[in-house]
Amino acid sequence: MVVAVPVLAVPVLAVPVVLAVLVDARHAILFEPVVIGPKTLPNRFYQVPHASGFGSRKPRTQAAFRAIKAEGGWGGVCVEYAPVSADSDEVPAVSADLWDEADARALTLAADAIHGHGSLAGLELFHGGASSPNGSSRLARLAPSQITSELQWGGLAKQMTRDDIARVQRDWVEAARRAAGAGFDIVYVYGAHGYLMTQFLSAVTNRRSDGYGGSLANRGRFWLETLAAVRDAVGAECAIATRVAVHGDSGVPGAGGLPGIGVDEMLALVAMADHLVDLWDVTVGTWPEDSGTSRYYPEGHQRPWAHRVREATAKPVVAVGRYSSPDLMTEVIRSGAVDLIGSARQAIADPFLPRKIAEGRLGEIRECTGSNICILREETFRHVGCVQNATAGEEYRRGWHPEVFGQATGADRPVLIVGAGPAGLECAVVLGRRGFRAVHVAEAEPEIGGRLRWTRRLPGLGDWGRLVDWRAVQLGLLPGVEVITGRRLAAADVLGYGAEVVVIATGSSWRGDGVQPGHPSPMPGADPSLPHVLTPEQVCAGKRPPGRRVVVYDTDGYYVAPGVAELLAGEGFEVTVVTTFPVLSPVSDETLEGDMLRAHLHQAGVWVRHATTITGIAPRPVAAGRQGEPGPAREDGPPWPVLEDGPPWPVLDDGGHLLVQGDGEPLAVLDDGGPWMVLGHDRYGEPWSARCDGVVLVTQQVSDDGLYLELAADPAALAAAGISALYRIGDAVAPRLLSEAIFDGHRLAREIDSPDPATPLPYRREPAGLG
Ligand SMILES: Cc1cc2nc3c(=O)[nH]c(=O)nc-3n(C[C@H](O)[C@H](O)[C@H](O)COP(=O)(O)O)c2cc1C
Ligand code: SF4
Repeated sequence: MVVAVPVLAVPVLAVPVVLAVLVDARHAILFEPVVIGPKTLPNRFYQVPHASGFGSRKPRTQAAFRAIKAEGGWGGVCVEYAPVSADSDEVPAVSADLWDEADARALTLAADAIHGHGSLAGLELFHGGASSPNGSSRLARLAPSQITSELQWGGLAKQMTRDDIARVQRDWVEAARRAAGAGFDIVYVYGAHGYLMTQFLSAVTNRRSDGYGGSLANRGRFWLETLAAVRDAVGAECAIATRVAVHGDSGVPGAGGLPGIGVDEMLALVAMADHLVDLWDVTVGTWPEDSGTSRYYPEGHQRPWAHRVREATAKPVVAVGRYSSPDLMTEVIRSGAVDLIGSARQAIADPFLPRKIAEGRLGEIRECTGSNICILREETFRHVGCVQNATAGEEYRRGWHPEVFGQATGADRPVLIVGAGPAGLECAVVLGRRGFRAVHVAEAEPEIGGRLRWTRRLPGLGDWGRLVDWRAVQLGLLPGVEVITGRRLAAADVLGYGAEVVVIATGSSWRGDGVQPGHPSPMPGADPSLPHVLTPEQVCAGKRPPGRRVVVYDTDGYYVAPGVAELLAGEGFEVTVVTTFPVLSPVSDETLEGDMLRAHLHQAGVWVRHATTITGIAPRPVAAGRQGEPGPAREDGPPWPVLEDGPPWPVLDDGGHLLVQGDGEPLAVLDDGGPWMVLGHDRYGEPWSARCDGVVLVTQQVSDDGLYLELAADPAALAAAGISALYRIGDAVAPRLLSEAIFDGHRLAREIDSPDPATPLPYRREPAGLG
């Protein structure tokens, strides 16, 4: 079964590289063509299948999104997962359904667009089995046995009969024929990420006693038969690829794994199916591990397991692992274990990576940050987006090209951008590329980056800084753009600056007053000028609570509270995160890192209290008080704060033990730590409180829009100063995801010469309306 590993076992054609100029011979190997079955990839850059939210429902958006990658030099470009039949209906998600000829016609646009740049087009035929929602078709889910999938709820799957098995295989063949007819060069039998093929393969989910269950040969039969049938149908005209998942053990807590499929079993399957396959597409683990965020996984993290597939095949192998470094890609290919560099996220972040390598423009590569905002957007909003590449998904509907920027009219107008955060930096880069001759970016802080100045210092988020670093490098290449740091501009400074166009990009900050969703008034006792009350920015700037016991209060639900908690826990603080959500950091589930994040915090000794609202911070009380009433006077400090809502104050003895609460009923004995109390209630309104030495409030952001509002309020002063246009972008408009801040800055600069740049131009929508 195990074969010797010849270095570069895959046939390499002696034809010139597809990309014109190759400056650096070090990377020449990346531009060699590779034969896969009846087809030849023009180079070793391969955009693996990944969802976009466009599927076959937005065919023009899909086509333009993939065509850009082909234009940027990716030799193979795949569309996303494509269900073969109605009992693998992905609604409410959007997939590239291939059930009938109408679907095929829609996807033809993508294949044609990819071919237009000389690349091969791939389609990932798929059946989700027990993981298919079937939200629209209302058909029963199918699976080898009557199981449920952790991705679904509301019922178990039907155990497939032999007729079902034969019918799904016929659907696969029909879909493969349609894919070939639509012009696709590479047709997949998708087996990774826990879907139907994997459900058959795993002894945990396959409990059959017939010829499709039991031994590995039986559990693999459905996969092999499907491969053989698809190969018979289209193997002469299409390369047959299959995507497998090798079980990794990266040691990342919470990463999960593939139940019941060990690496040796997968290698045995590879050996059994090798004669049916032209391209092995290898991933590791489940999707959260495969698309591992930079917080937990370094570039190339899948290597130790993915590269083992070479032991079982001499066919071409593509492997992924958020590759962005040309040197690492080269080394990976040279190792002989892998023939193609697979990429989803780097190809989103920079569709022109291959071209930039070919042309020696390495400094221009927009490196993926590993944030997984792309996945959050695709899964949640059904439209992919990126924190590095504002044009991702906007190629068709807005006509944006990541590398082409038309000369702007009115580019001789001097521009002042106030704020060098993500939105301001992006706006400056695009204005510079559009030919503006004098763009000044004024930043109040000594360092550029806005919120990323401190975010990138949170544990594991260093790669998010790539967003700032890339823009800093590009601005240095633009002669018309100048960045001035350490200069805080007041309204009078802006008026006197000499700019004709002013863009306010002053960002946002975290409130320190405890205002939070559902509680619009400030929280009693929340004052970040006090030593024991902190904002996230203050923590990252070095402020620490006066004692060891810290409560991090989270009503935001994303990365900031866990990041601050991990930072403080790492320094030896005893940290409790109190969150209003039923689970810590629900947004991180959308970036696939929720389980890992929670496991990490657990291992770091961070306690979490869920579904709890904090409404006040008070000194440890020693006397009773009632809601809405001032407490008794104190000799050693300010009067007790008045709580507008929440429970009556508890009464504690000096050891911190609860004596009475409100109506005199003892409720519980509290811990005895800390001179401060956080007071609140649980999801049922039951009083809750805890003692601590300090509180970090991750409650709500607020736009830093004072400068904009002051300037906008005085149009006459603007006119007198020669300022013909005043705009506001990014968090200064409304605090949002990083991808939206970048988008905002990019859009304004793209449309700066439109009739009304403050109002986005309409964009093309699909499907077209009936009128
Ligand atoms: C937005 C997004 C959507 C994805 N959708 C799919 C999919 O439809 N099918 C699939 O096999 N993998 C999908 N993946 C996983 C990728 O194909 C790839 O295996 C993974 O992201 C690791 O590659 P990378 O590190 O280059 O991103 C998706 C990844 C991303 C980022
Ligand atoms: S959103 Fe983040 S992870 Fe996704 S492609 Fe862009 S930079 Fe990479």
